[in-house]
Amino acid sequence: MTATAQSTENLRTVRGPLVGLPHLLKMRRDPIGHNDVMRAKYGEVLKINVFGTTLYACYGMDAAEQILINRERVFANGPAWSHFIGPFFHRGLMLLDFDEHLHHRRILQAAFTNDAMRRYHAVMVPHIREGLAGWGDVAHPRMFELFKELTLDLAIETFVGVDLPRAEQDRVNKAFIAAVRAGTSIVRANVPGTPWAKGLAARKVLEEFFYEHLPEKRRNGGDDLFAQLCIAQSEEGDEFTDEDIVNHMIFLLMAAHDTSTITMSSMAYHLARFPEWQEKARASALAAGDDYDSVVGDELLDRVMKESLRLCSPVPNMPRVATRETAVNGYRIPEGAFVTVSPFYSHFDPTYWPDPTRFDPDRFAEPRREDHGHRMAFHGFGGGVHKCIGMYFAGVQVRAIFHELLRTYRWSVPDDYRWPLDLVALPYPRDRLPVTLERL
Ligand code: HEM
Repeated sequence: MTATAQSTENLRTVRGPLVGLPHLLKMRRDPIGHNDVMRAKYGEVLKINVFGTTLYACYGMDAAEQILINRERVFANGPAWSHFIGPFFHRGLMLLDFDEHLHHRRILQAAFTNDAMRRYHAVMVPHIREGLAGWGDVAHPRMFELFKELTLDLAIETFVGVDLPRAEQDRVNKAFIAAVRAGTSIVRANVPGTPWAKGLAARKVLEEFFYEHLPEKRRNGGDDLFAQLCIAQSEEGDEFTDEDIVNHMIFLLMAAHDTSTITMSSMAYHLARFPEWQEKARASALAAGDDYDSVVGDELLDRVMKESLRLCSPVPNMPRVATRETAVNGYRIPEGAFVTVSPFYSHFDPTYWPDPTRFDPDRFAEPRREDHGHRMAFHGFGGGVHKCIGMYFAGVQVRAIFHELLRTYRWSVPDDYRWPLDLVALPYPRDRLPVTLERL
């Protein structure tokens, strides 16, 4: 029987806390192996102390389902995520909870319809081609850096849709990067010179920027996300206030940026390590047309994307706070506890993913469909009411970029190369993924 909020008697006590630093160091060296050891030793839920916060790490697909689907409305996002990403992404959709979250999500949904995707695609394609054209001249190409720069430039076009002089674009990009970085600050207060203080200043720059351009956006509209938020309406006819639009725009930029960069880096890495898959993906991209339906309908590319996400979840952990005493997997979770679900780890569970470390996009093809083995077998985009609203947008953008990339370049890494993933915050390759890039 699944434990529920009502059945908190006769529950097991969670063991721990494990002290943070040694655990973190082992996690950095071998995240999957170390979690396997801890799961075998301590059970399905265990306490870990990380920088003064006790986290209840919940293993396995059943725990993921229970926490993410959240039938009892016990687990809250706002207090959990704001602890990690601070006030910089204040009132973004992911930080809202329950009825208020639903109200905002219903309005925001209007900016993520099929028609909207087609329009975003049309806006992004020329900028993708222009961005990729210069890659062949880069002396020491590092894919992670190249994707990061390209997604930032694309965000200005597809998200913001405002013509900006280069200096102003750089100022906004800089503020955005400072806001993202601030969440990892060790000093978590407005102490001058710290990433935290820089993040607060950056948030102000971003707010001023969006407020300045809002009246013109409301007046003139456009095919970008900013314009869509201005006209977005729920089925009940509810709309966003100016303040809502600014808060959502700042959060959306953040939610889209690193996640897409990491996804594409993982795809580029695996396609470089397994050149036979790169050739298959190239053949598929060359056979597909350039129109929206052909690019988005490239099934092989879809499977490569999913398998790359499985092997490297851009959002490695999803935190929640228990708003009252409850139970997960038969373990008592006290009120106020921070719980976490880890797709990064679960995606290597051999019960659902045989030979889990192997790169094999055909796991997602019929008749195998290993992603159908459990409702949460693949939860790189989360699940339940907070499931990624930008999942299709990400799919369109990543496929549009790889469609062009595969047709323009071949890239490779030495046979013995393994990317050095840093897992302190979101995963990224410490060496930025250097490759040899050859123009076709
Ligand atoms: C491959 C790229 C992406 C990945 C892997 C990803 C992953 C995720 C995950 C795991 C969550 C759930 C977090 C939680 O439940 O705690 C989430 C939520 C969210 N994502 Fe994404 N994301 C991606 C791209 C995007 C893009 C491109 C956008 C916007 C255009 C976006 C916007 C959002 C928003 C607004 C939420 C909050 C949804 C809610 O709380 O209702 N994401 N994403």
